[in-house]
Amino acid sequence: MRVVRLASEIDFDGWRVAARDLRTEGIPPETIVWTVERDLFSPPPCGEGAGGGGASAEMAGSEPSPPPQPLPVRGRGFTVPPAFVELARSVVLHRSGERFALLYRLLWRLEREPRLIDNPADPDVAKARDMEKAVSRAIHKMHAFVRFRLIETEPEAYAAWFEPAHRVTEAAAPFFARRFTTMTWTILTPDACVAWDGQTLKVSDGADPADAPAEDAQEELWRTYYASIFNPARLNEKMMRQEMPKRYWRNLPEARLIPQLIETAQERAAAMVAATPSPAPDRVLKAALRQARDGSYNGDVPTSLEAVAAGVQLCRRCDLWRDATQGVSGQGAAHARLMFVGEQPGDQEDLAGRPFVGPAGQVFDEALAQAGVPRDRTYVTNAVKHFKHEPRGKRRIHKTPDRGEVQACRWWLDAERRLVRPRVIVALGATAAHAVMGKATPIGANRGKALQLPDQTRAVLTYHPSFLLRLPDAAARERARAEFVEDLRLAGELAGLLD
Ligand code: URA
Repeated sequence: MRVVRLASEIDFDGWRVAARDLRTEGIPPETIVWTVERDLFSPPPCGEGAGGGGASAEMAGSEPSPPPQPLPVRGRGFTVPPAFVELARSVVLHRSGERFALLYRLLWRLEREPRLIDNPADPDVAKARDMEKAVSRAIHKMHAFVRFRLIETEPEAYAAWFEPAHRVTEAAAPFFARRFTTMTWTILTPDACVAWDGQTLKVSDGADPADAPAEDAQEELWRTYYASIFNPARLNEKMMRQEMPKRYWRNLPEARLIPQLIETAQERAAAMVAATPSPAPDRVLKAALRQARDGSYNGDVPTSLEAVAAGVQLCRRCDLWRDATQGVSGQGAAHARLMFVGEQPGDQEDLAGRPFVGPAGQVFDEALAQAGVPRDRTYVTNAVKHFKHEPRGKRRIHKTPDRGEVQACRWWLDAERRLVRPRVIVALGATAAHAVMGKATPIGANRGKALQLPDQTRAVLTYHPSFLLRLPDAAARERARAEFVEDLRLAGELAGLLD
């Protein structure tokens, strides 16, 4: 019996060297015992909380793993295909105690069956492929469910506790280094800790759950958002549990709400279905009817905001009116210095007949309050005035308006701009930016500054509030939210609305 001691649970290189030598010596799989001798080689533990440090092992930064090379085996000129090396690299991360032996058995068999790993029906291959899939899923879940918490403010440092299904911490880490390059963070797991200082990733030994960072102040905020965007009519509990398995709930601030939201979903969905839409105000409908009857709605440029509101109800410039409850034109101060342009009314706006009154409106209102911009001194509208959606059962799923629909609706937006004559226009999101600038203009590269429009108006491009609601990662969301508030403040300042 041969006993092979590898340096760690994920010591792929050690396995590779040992396997090559054993194969060269002709040692059959059933005579080998694979073990891991962590104590001899393991790096020092994570230390207090997030720092890690000491003589921890350095990873290859955020570089992807090198392309697999053939695995040469001395004697008899035996090499294995790169696809096997790739498979082995992944299978080693599986928690199964059988993984090293399974891989060696495959390596052993490859000499006589060079096409072995192309045969998915072979039990060894099938088992290895299943492990590979499980590892890949574990990496994906880690990317999706790690939630950083602010643990130090001067300078800022973040930490997250996570318990991956397999030993994927090091494999998953480069993703976070690329995504949060400018942040200092540590991810603690029972297997290993990885720390990023802005330049290098350092790996140290696994941590104790007691080292997990405590909940921070942002999380209550996040739960409030989650509860407000949770649409009971869209609940697919099975899918939700599949995508967000219970084992991860402990680390997700929003997860605490899930049981309660699921419990009350049916009731809330029924209430939503029963909700009657608020029709456009009488005043608007009467004006629309008058215009239709006396032919004054003949496509002439509207000369008042009331005419815009009435015209929007009659608008047939594109087909979106067919499925919408009503047209939703802008609302606010008739001569506001600051105009906000969103994308299109959402489900709740379509029912209420007013822009930004649903979940996105809630985020918008909170950010306005933080920026010190009073909404009632602004004018709020959308690039497209009818709710574009597709029915899915009882639900109405938002669909992004296409270029033709945005172009058709610019008639109304341009009319609102001419009538309100704002000093500053804020475009919320890409659709609005396109409508306001007259061409596709990326938000990322243009936010945070005052742009000049041909009519001397200034434009500020920023995120759409729904984008902030959709960002899955707490740290990224907080950063984007702060930038959003900054942009609103800039617009408020340019418009002379801040005290
Ligand atoms: N999203 C928008 O772009 N506008 C609204 O009015 C509501 C949601």
